[in-house]
Amino acid sequence: MKDLNDLFKHQLKDLYSAESQLIKALPKMAKNAHDGKLKKAFENHLEETKEQKNRLEEICKELDFSPKGETCKAMKGLIEEAEDFLKEDAPEEVRDAGLIADAQRVEHYEIAGYGTVVRYAKELGHSKIAEKLQKTLDEEYDADNKLDKLAEGRLNKKAV
Ligand SMILES: [Fe+2]
Repeated sequence: MKDLNDLFKHQLKDLYSAESQLIKALPKMAKNAHDGKLKKAFENHLEETKEQKNRLEEICKELDFSPKGETCKAMKGLIEEAEDFLKEDAPEEVRDAGLIADAQRVEHYEIAGYGTVVRYAKELGHSKIAEKLQKTLDEEYDADNKLDKLAEGRLNKKAV
């Protein structure tokens, strides 16, 4: 790795791996969510995530390199934690709360990653690519906000 361009490519590959792993994990999270809205949120984000993965493929094609060949170990760890949690015996409400917590960790991780590549893309003069990556970043923020609302809804229900 010799310059920012190499680092940019490395970060894109990392995100590509992260999105690919998430596509496999989200159906399991949706299946285990009890609350209908939470289930729907996971299903919607699965569709969004597939689109985000496509976007990364397009970007890498434009930059003439393959997005494959790296494993995002951080995402692997986050998903493993979520899977371990699902093995725990827990009441529906607690399970949903835990799923929200795990999903928000994932979103925050992705927000950090996309924030970085948007900056690098701008710095390297790839303004169209920066726009595409910004679109994904906005979606990740939205997904996180939705999870926030669901977590708050849970809290309100409990208060009642
Ligand atoms: Fe994503």
